[in-house]
Amino acid sequence: MTSYLDHLECTQCGKDYPCGELIKVSPCCGKVLFARYDLTRLGREVSRDVFAGRPDNMWRFAELLPVFQDENIVTLGEGATPLLNASTIGKSLNMGHLFIKEEGLNPTGTFKARGLSAAISKAKELGAKGFTIPSAGNAAGAAAVYCARAGLDVKVYMPQDAPDANKKECLLADSELNLVDGHIGDAGRQAVAVAEEENLFDLSTLKEPYRAEGKKTMALEIAMQLGWRMPDTIIYPTGGGTGIIGMHKGFRELLDLGWVEGEPPKFIAVQAAGCQPIVKAFEAGADSAEPWPNAKTVADGLRVPGPFADYLILQALRETGGTALAVEDTEMVDAMYEIASKEGVIACPEGSATLVALKRLLGSGDLAEDDVTVLLNTGSGYKYLDLIRGYGE
Ligand SMILES: Cc1ncc(COP(=O)(O)O)c(C=O)c1O
Ligand SMILES: [Zn+2]
Repeated sequence: MTSYLDHLECTQCGKDYPCGELIKVSPCCGKVLFARYDLTRLGREVSRDVFAGRPDNMWRFAELLPVFQDENIVTLGEGATPLLNASTIGKSLNMGHLFIKEEGLNPTGTFKARGLSAAISKAKELGAKGFTIPSAGNAAGAAAVYCARAGLDVKVYMPQDAPDANKKECLLADSELNLVDGHIGDAGRQAVAVAEEENLFDLSTLKEPYRAEGKKTMALEIAMQLGWRMPDTIIYPTGGGTGIIGMHKGFRELLDLGWVEGEPPKFIAVQAAGCQPIVKAFEAGADSAEPWPNAKTVADGLRVPGPFADYLILQALRETGGTALAVEDTEMVDAMYEIASKEGVIACPEGSATLVALKRLLGSGDLAEDDVTVLLNTGSGYKYLDLIRGYGE
């Protein structure tokens, strides 16, 4: 197996860059760089049928991932998560094809494992000696364990009030934990400054090209799990946007390869009422988002007041005929109970927000009951058990 990575491309102006060195944003526009693969050659040389027989992790899609030498792959078995038929909730909503992509089963309990496995592997291949990362919490935990696995140091920066589980996984993996007064944007400023001073590689969301490549594998898996078909709709809890942007890119690559027919699914971005910059920008018809003041939500992964890749999230929503909507924290927590009691999935509040959004969009007629619909549960509820009240209290 070898990567068909060919070059990098500026998502603003389309300028190409070589992919042989560590790089962050595009030098031309200061925007997100996308990894581009030689899809013509890949389509000619490889059949989609090879993937099912490979080991059950996201690196089964190595041709569409950026690492050239297998020995640089830093893996804990991430990906290959189940696409569960949510038949009880589906029936109650009169839906025949409702699925939950259960990302809670990843190492460190969230989909962040995919992005950090990809980014840290590629940075290792390109000679990085150590890292910084700002995070709402879950990405830091994933960075800590993948760096431990790679034998490389990482300095993590997360808000003071990030979940305890995230702080503890960083401590366990012996990363340098820095708690920041403020939100992920404030953490980002510190992480970047330290990276510059100490010649470390900063892994901020979409400010390097390869975390999104790891996230893209969720799209490849969903298509494969549906028998190489596109779902109609994906409902996604959106913070910094790596998931939506990566998956949108992944579905497009499958179409370009001719491995799946049709159109990319409609992307629905769900945000928290207390931090909804993308929803406001979408509703205003804008191409970029205004930073959200005083961002507050129990869904820590959604507390991203000023996503760097706002324009790419908005493009993914508009190009696919999707939409964006915000839900209340209380609704997310109620949905955690519903998903666990009806489907047995202990979902995080971010993932549970997708069920609230689904019901609202069915109610307004914006989604159809017979659509093949996937709710992305981005992480495990085990990291958020203090939101659950009752027994013994
Ligand atoms: C559990 C969870 N869900 C969703 C998100 C949002 O991620 P993104 O929009 O970057 O894909 C995060 C980010 O921290 C998260 O931890
Ligand atoms: Zn450019």
